[in-house]
This record gives sequence, C-alpha cells and structure tokens, in this order.
Amino acid sequence: MKSVQKHAIWRRKGTFILAATGSAVGLGNIWKFPYIAGENGGGAFVLMYLLCICLIGLPVMVAEVLLGRRGRANPIMAVQAVTRESGSSRGWNVIGLFGVLAGFLILSYYSVIAGWTLEYVTTAARGGFVGLDGESAKRAFEALNANKSALVQWQTAFLCMTVLVIVFGVTRGLETAVRVLMPLLFVLLVVLMVYAAYVGDFAAGASFLFSFKFSELSLKGLSLALGHAFFTLSLGMGAIMTYGSYMPSHHSIVKTVLIVGILDTVVALMAGLAIFPIVFATQGVSPGDGSGLMFISLPIVFGAMPFGTIFGTLFFLLVTLAAWSSAISLLEPAVAYLIQRFRFHRLSANLLIASLAWLLGLGTVMSFNDWSDSTYFLGMNFFNFIDFITASVLLPLGGVLMAIYVGWFMQRRSLRSELRQESRKTFTRWFTIVRYVSPALVLLVFLIGLYGKFAG
Ligand code: PFF
Repeated sequence: MKSVQKHAIWRRKGTFILAATGSAVGLGNIWKFPYIAGENGGGAFVLMYLLCICLIGLPVMVAEVLLGRRGRANPIMAVQAVTRESGSSRGWNVIGLFGVLAGFLILSYYSVIAGWTLEYVTTAARGGFVGLDGESAKRAFEALNANKSALVQWQTAFLCMTVLVIVFGVTRGLETAVRVLMPLLFVLLVVLMVYAAYVGDFAAGASFLFSFKFSELSLKGLSLALGHAFFTLSLGMGAIMTYGSYMPSHHSIVKTVLIVGILDTVVALMAGLAIFPIVFATQGVSPGDGSGLMFISLPIVFGAMPFGTIFGTLFFLLVTLAAWSSAISLLEPAVAYLIQRFRFHRLSANLLIASLAWLLGLGTVMSFNDWSDSTYFLGMNFFNFIDFITASVLLPLGGVLMAIYVGWFMQRRSLRSELRQESRKTFTRWFTIVRYVSPALVLLVFLIGLYGKFAG
C-alpha cells in the first residue's frame, strides 16, 4: 500500500508489546477493575470479565492491530486505506472517527483520575498515610474531591506531562519509559499483594474475587464487564490500531496480542488481590465503596507497613506512570489524525486536543463535588455519563464494527497475508471467532446492557 514507505515503523523487536502493554495497563487495571468488581458482586463479575477478554477482547485486538498494520496510518486514514484496498463502502470509515472521539472523551476524565494519583504521590511522600484508618482515609479522599482547585491543578499537570511525550514523538520517550517502569510496577504489586495477604484478610479477599455466586450475576455487571474488557485492553478506539500501524510486517500479531492480554489481566488480578484483603480487614471500608476504593484502602496499608512512606510514594508514582503511558495512547490517535489529514504541526495538534480535553475534564472535576448528585445526563452525573458513553457504548461499538469489517468485508487475501506467521488452524479459529462469535456476543451484551439501563 502506498502509505507504507512514508509511515514510521518501530525498529526494536519488543516495542509493540511494550507500547501496547503501556497503553493497556493503566488506571483501568489498578483503579477501575477493583472498584467495578467490588460494586458488581466480585467473582461473578470477574468470571464475565475473563470470558469477555478471551472471546471478544483478544480476537478483536488481533483484528485491530491487523487493520492498523495493513493501513499504516492513524485510525481514520488506516481504515480508509483498507476499505479502498478491499473496495468496500466508505461508510466503514466511521470506525476511525468513533475511535478518535472515544479517545478524546476518555482522556478528559482519565486526566482527572490520574490527577488523584499525583496528589497521592505527594501525600505519601509527606508521610500523610501514617496511622490512617478506614474513617480517616475516607475523609482524606473526600477532602481532596471537595477541593476543586487542587483537582484542576493536578489534572492540568497530568495533561502537560502527556503532551510533553507526544510532542517528542511516540517512540523515543515512550519506549524507555515502558521498558523500565512496567517491570517495576509489577514487582511493587507483588510486594503489595504479599503484604496485604500478611496484614489483611487474604482468604476473604481472594474468595470475593474468585468464588462465583450465580445470584450475583446481573445484566448490568455483564455489560460493564464487556465494556471493561475493551477499556482495559485499550480496544475499539484506534489506540491499538495506531500502535499496530508502527509494527513491522514480519512479527506475529497473535503471539504479541496474547502476551499483552495476559500481562494486562494479571496486573488487574494482582491489583484486586492487593486491595480486597485490606478492604475486608478494615472497619468502615467495603468492596462497593466505588471510585475511591484504591485511594482509600491502599493508603491504610502503606500507613501501617514498615517503610510505608517509601513504598506508598513509589506505588502511586508508578500508577501515575502507568496512567501516563495509557494517556499517551489516548491522545496520539487524534493528534496523528490532525497531522496526517490537516497537516497540523505536531505541537499545535497536541495543544488543541489537550486543551479541549482539559476543558471537558472540568465537568468530571465538578462531578466529584458540586455536580455529584446531578442527573442531567440520562440520569447520571457528568463523569458517569462520559464513562458510560465511552466504555459501554463507543468502545464496544467500535470493536464490533472492526470485527464485522475484518470478518466479513476485508479481503481474505489481505488477512492471510497479515497473519501469515500463524498456522492454518490458528487462523481459521481466529477467523471464525471474529466473524461470528465476537460480533454476536457484543451485540447481545450491548443490547441487553442498553435495555437494562433504560428499562430498569
Ligand atoms: N487501557 C487503559 C487502562 O486500562 O487504563 C485505558 C485506555 C487507554 C483505554 C487507551 C483506551 C485506550 F485507547
């Protein structure tokens, strides 16, 4: 295809894995997964989530990387290139547009939550966790959310960090950051897990996460699990497509996707196993406490553990960095689009998108204080609404369109050529899932999710 020569390709072998893991592992794993599992019955949610990852997330991820690598451009133009090659309708280009929009919307609230982690880095470093109990940890979190100027200040700082990396290009800064930081985060999570098992109620935490109670299954939980599978793997919005567009042609997409999927899932489960034993051993904190769960339970652990000030600071720093590498992939598709389509300068494209995301993020800031009880947006406050529209609507929709396009409309020859490293059996299995199973499941869950939302 024409654009291949012009488009940058990552030189080092592991870079796609690192960049995709950097995008996938973020607040979704450490902050969001535990709290939505906590609110939706623990084990029942975890089971649905794992099924969604295997039957939908991973096959769709292969499709998304493949689209990016075939089109060799930003999501909008990559899809255009592929539809041109296959002679299919230009209507499919909406996939790229959805993606750019979803990324922008997620970035707007992601930077506010990442702002919380920045604030917690400084609190930890000042020794602010020492001696916290359930009540005081909750009060501290509430006090932060009541302080709008602090929220805006941290949100701004985080967005500036993100812009900085994108201005210097995806490969240089990101590669080094992910290569060093991801393993460090992993080690720290192991330390936390072991410590939580030691001081907390490990049996209760593990059984909450892994014992499946039929009665806890719910339509809402199922739809959240599906949305979260897309969110946590950064799927359905072109981030992974953009990274796929930089992937050398001779690398195996399936193997790479499996590695990223496994790493992402393991990190989420480890975060759960670090948080829930503490939740069950602490008075005044419960699994259903919502979006503050990590910010309430973990400071209690750090406050009580030896060298907790150091560990606490390091942990929140690493979570911020994990969020950072995810935010980069939220911003990059829109920026790449403005550059490649409208010939924007990289810096101005960045500043424009980041400023708009900042502005929209103020709505999320307000959702944790003045607007927390507002029901203007389909009965939800602003933050819950943006979260719902992105995770439960735009990402699954983007993902299912990719699966349908790749499974039904893309030339088989192009698919086989992108997946030529895979055996015939692997190819056929993947193709059957992506053609029939994933779209059917996503549509089903999507419809019952909408039904559940508006009927009940
Ligand atoms: N996967 C990221 C997380 O789990 O925190 C969030 C995310 C990043 C979603 C990039 C979508 C995306 F394109």
